[in-house]
Amino acid sequence: MTAYKPLFISVEGVDGSGKSTQIRMLNEKLLSLGISVVLTREPGGVAVAEEIRNLLLKGDSDKFDAKSEAMLFYTARNEHLRQLILPSLEEGKIVLSDRFADSTMAFQHYGRGFDRNFIDLLHQQTVGDNNPDLTLIFMISADEAHNRALARMSAVAGAEDRMEKEGVEFQKRIAKGFKEIAQQNPERCVIINAEGSVEEVAERVWSVVSKRLELKDSSIA
Ligand code: TMP
Repeated sequence: MTAYKPLFISVEGVDGSGKSTQIRMLNEKLLSLGISVVLTREPGGVAVAEEIRNLLLKGDSDKFDAKSEAMLFYTARNEHLRQLILPSLEEGKIVLSDRFADSTMAFQHYGRGFDRNFIDLLHQQTVGDNNPDLTLIFMISADEAHNRALARMSAVAGAEDRMEKEGVEFQKRIAKGFKEIAQQNPERCVIINAEGSVEEVAERVWSVVSKRLELKDSSIA
């Protein structure tokens, strides 16, 4: 059995940054080393939060304003933390979450322009000190993000969710937001250059994660 430090890891980035593929690869790598991992996502992760995900992501882009969105994202997060993340960490597992609270700051504040103090208040009251130990932020250039989004949309017509319908300028504001969040939280956040081949990006991810896990068997790091 490999010895490791239990961690809460969140993975963030603009839509189309390839983070979902990378998170799956990281999950497989950890499992192959005999490490107990809980792979989860936001909004979602537990049944009631998945129901909120459907409410949030389906339908017209103006069906909720940013305040309603922020509260719904934090309602889902509260249950995700309470029902899954905190109990899993207690059991000594690694929690790998595809998005967490930085997405609310990036999308609802930087993207939609909603009040940052309100989001900070929701954060204090729900997440408190239970922030991730490590946050990987996948970054690609605005042009690359645009190309990948177009490719996705033409592959599955009408497949874009409410956020993706917001367009390129919205995604640019979010990318700027994630950069600022990383600068404000240098201990927790690491920016991953998500351009290049899937294998190249996976290597960058592993070099960061393996260090933070403090794996005891150096031959596998
Ligand atoms: P996904 O496409 O990475 O699964 O994320 C779902 C969408 O929800 C994505 O467009 C980002 C958005 N989102 C927010 O706007 N605020 C949040 O707090 C979270 C977690 C996601």
